[in-house]
Amino acid sequence: MSEIRRVGIVGGTGPLGRGLAARLSYKYDVLIGSREERRARGAAEEVTRLTGRQVRGATNLEAARASDAAILALPDQPTSELIQDLKEELEGKLVISPIVPMEMKDGRFTYSPRDSSAAESVASILDRSRVAAAFHTVPAPKLLAIGEKLEYTVPVAAEKRETFSEVATIVSSIQDLRPLYAGPLSSARTIEALTPLLLNLARLNGRKNLSIRIV
Ligand SMILES: NC(=O)c1ccc[n+]([C@@H]2O[C@H](COP(=O)([O-])OP(=O)(O)OC[C@H]3O[C@@H](n4cnc5c(N)ncnc54)[C@H](OP(=O)(O)O)[C@@H]3O)[C@@H](O)[C@H]2O)c1
Repeated sequence: MSEIRRVGIVGGTGPLGRGLAARLSYKYDVLIGSREERRARGAAEEVTRLTGRQVRGATNLEAARASDAAILALPDQPTSELIQDLKEELEGKLVISPIVPMEMKDGRFTYSPRDSSAAESVASILDRSRVAAAFHTVPAPKLLAIGEKLEYTVPVAAEKRETFSEVATIVSSIQDLRPLYAGPLSSARTIEALTPLLLNLARLNGRKNLSIRIV
């Protein structure tokens, strides 16, 4: 395991990807990936303007290839083909899934995994990468509000404790975020399910961008 210097954000043009790119750019060399290089460049320019840090845009393939670790800031479906296409580029690397399988049913957000959690599905495709689950409960608008304190707990699931430690270093590089080990990747099922809960709590109580802090 070598030191992680460059983080690639696959699907980094969305709110979560841009938010993580912004916050991580203070410690890491960040590459935003997209299916369209032009879109990635646009998002990277926006993040650079926001932070004053140099962030680059590239295709998803290049972001995966040129990085030491990748974050898959992608919707749950239908992205397994894209993940499959990146398999070789991500071999031997740390890969973080913040993906939440979720749908709206009867006016409520519902956790909607298929056979297993999104993170386990990712791991079954990327079986030669170190796959972990993290960042599900960190709202993108808060990440993009540079300067705002993020005193949140970030539960992390990973098969091995050493993989958790690698993720913890990345999470802790964002001021005030506190990573906690939640156990093996199957624990991602309970972590991913927190996101629809937070969204329902926000909707039903007139709140916005809720997160969690374990005390
Ligand atoms: N937003 C949040 O606050 C938040 C917080 C915690 C966790 N999450 C989870 O993190 C993930 C990313 O969140 P997000 O809100 O940033 O998602 P998003 O905006 O829906 O999607 C992110 C990016 O994924 C790419 N994408 C969309 N459909 C695709 C497809 N069919 N195949 C390949 N790429 C596709 C798009 O990039 P290009 O078009 O540029 O390729 C898009 O900008 C989701 O699973 C979400 O549930 C989100």
